[in-house]
Amino acid sequence: MASSVEAKRSKLESKGGECKCHGKLPDDRFAKLHDIIEEHKDERGSLIPVLHEAQQLFGCLPEDVQKQVAKGLDVPESEVYGVATFYSLFSLKPKGRWIVNVCLGTACYVKGAADCLEALKKELGVDLGGTSKDGLFTLQGVRCVGACALAPVVVIDDTVYAKVKPEDIKRILAEHVEANAKEAHAS
Ligand code: FES
Repeated sequence: MASSVEAKRSKLESKGGECKCHGKLPDDRFAKLHDIIEEHKDERGSLIPVLHEAQQLFGCLPEDVQKQVAKGLDVPESEVYGVATFYSLFSLKPKGRWIVNVCLGTACYVKGAADCLEALKKELGVDLGGTSKDGLFTLQGVRCVGACALAPVVVIDDTVYAKVKPEDIKRILAEHVEANAKEAHAS
């Protein structure tokens, strides 16, 4: 990716774009997690709401967080892990600032989604489910997003990119970073 884009990426990161889960988990969030557990621990079926609030607090559900939830709610760690990995709304790994969804539905696949996916993997340096080193992009595959006439489709958060070609990927990512750098600069 062009160096000017790298510079803008760095600027964004210094403005708070880094994932909440990178680095050591600060103790004050564990204190808050303790309060959340205390608030819910006598409720029936409290595990999912507690995990939901924990994920909002930490950005994901790393092992330390799962352990505290298990201890606090007096449930086996395996149960916490099972729930955290069963529901797609939970994530064990930190996600990037933006989610890049490549549609891998039939219409998109026929029109070349696999090549777009390869270009994204190469550009971001990750596999499906991975997050770029700078913490900005998480790459995901999704099934039909309901825009088959625009196939192949790539969606970055709420922005839909239509009829994408592999050679467009670099530009699309750069534009997304640039547009958000401008917003960050304006605010
Ligand atoms: S298959 Fe991709 S939008 Fe329908």
